[in-house]
Amino acid sequence: MTPVDPRPGDPVPVESPYAASIRLSVAPMMDWTDSHCRVFHRLLAPHARLYTEMVHANAVIHGDRAKLLARDPSEHPVALQLGGSEPALLAEAARIGADHGFDEVNLNCGCPSDRVQAGRFGACLMREPALVADSVAAMIAACDVPVTVKCRLGVDDDHDYGRFLDFVDTVASAGCGMFVVHARNAWLKGLSPKENREIPPLRYDWAYALKRDRPGLTVVVNGGIADAAEATAHLDHVDGAMLGRAAYHDPWLLHRLDVALYGGELSTRADVLRSMRPYVEDQLARGAQLKHISRHLLGLFHGERGGRAFRQVLSEGAHRPGAGWALLEEAISLTALLPAPTAE
Ligand SMILES: Cc1cc2nc3c(=O)[nH]c(=O)nc-3n(C[C@H](O)[C@H](O)[C@H](O)COP(=O)(O)O)c2cc1C
Repeated sequence: MTPVDPRPGDPVPVESPYAASIRLSVAPMMDWTDSHCRVFHRLLAPHARLYTEMVHANAVIHGDRAKLLARDPSEHPVALQLGGSEPALLAEAARIGADHGFDEVNLNCGCPSDRVQAGRFGACLMREPALVADSVAAMIAACDVPVTVKCRLGVDDDHDYGRFLDFVDTVASAGCGMFVVHARNAWLKGLSPKENREIPPLRYDWAYALKRDRPGLTVVVNGGIADAAEATAHLDHVDGAMLGRAAYHDPWLLHRLDVALYGGELSTRADVLRSMRPYVEDQLARGAQLKHISRHLLGLFHGERGGRAFRQVLSEGAHRPGAGWALLEEAISLTALLPAPTAE
C-alpha cells in the first residue's frame, strides 16, 4: 500500500495501548505472575504489558481452564505464555487463549528446567528453530492475536551470534514479529533454573545487535534489569525492557517506570494499595483467601519506612481464617508510624 501524506485536519495516528505497552513489561514467572499479581501490577503500571505464568499447551486444552486462564478484565494488555513443542497442540492452545481474551500469545523458548527439557520444550527449542517456526506458523494461523517468542541467546556452550540470528530469522520467517530476549545462554546440564537466571553471563549487546540487524522486528530485552535507570537506558537500543525479579520484589519500581515512560503523576504506595480494595473484597467474597493475594504485595514498601513491619503483619496475619481488608489497613498504618530503615 502506498503511504498517503496526512492532510491538515486528518486525525493524528495514535499508538494503540497494546503497541505502546511494549516499552515496559513484567516477565512471565511461574507461581508468581498469577492473576492476583497481575491485577496488582496493573494498578502500579497502567501502561505496561503483563505476562502470565507459563502454561503448557496440553494443560490449556485438557486442564481446568477457569483456573489456568483466570484473568481479570483490568489486566489488559496481557499475554498468555505457552509451553510446548507440538505445533497442532500449540495452535489449539493459542486459539483458546485468544478466545479467552488474551492480547498476545507468547511461546516459551527459554525455560531450562529438567521437567521442561524432558518434555522437549522451553530452552532446548533454541536448537530446533524449524520446529519453533512450524509451531509459530500454526499458532498464527489459529488465532488473531500477535504470536511472540521469548528466548535465550543459545544453550550450553553455543556462543555464536550467527546461530542466534539464524534462530530468529527462521522463526521470523514464519511470521513472528517480536522476540523477548533473555540475554544470556541457558545451560541445560548442571545448573538449576535459579542458577540459570544468574550464572550464565548477560550479553545485552546481542539483543542490541539483533535490533540493529533486524530493525523491522520488535526486540525486548530481559535479564538482570535492576532499576529504573537501567530499564530506561535499554530503550535507547531496543523496543522494550522486560523486568522479572526486580519488579516482583520491589513493585514500586514498576510505578516509577510507568510514570517515567508514559507520563502521569506519581501516586503513593498506600493509595495504589487502597485502589486494590474492591478487587480484594470481591475475590474474598468469591472464596479466595487473602494470603493468595497478599503474598504478591509484600515488597510494596521495600526499603521504606515500616516496610518490614508491613511485610510481617501480612505474612503472619493473612493465613488466619477470616483475614480481610482490615489486615491490609493495619499493615499500611504501620508504614506511617515506623522510622525509615537505616543502611545495614
Ligand atoms: C520464579 C520465576 C519463575 C519464572 N517462570 C518463567 C516462566 O514461566 N516463563 C518464562 O519464560 N520465564 C520464566 N522465568 C524467567 C523470567 O521470565 C525472566 O526471564 C528471568 O527471571 C530474567 O529476568 P529478571 O532478571 O528480570 O528476573 C521465571 C523467573 C522466576 C524468578
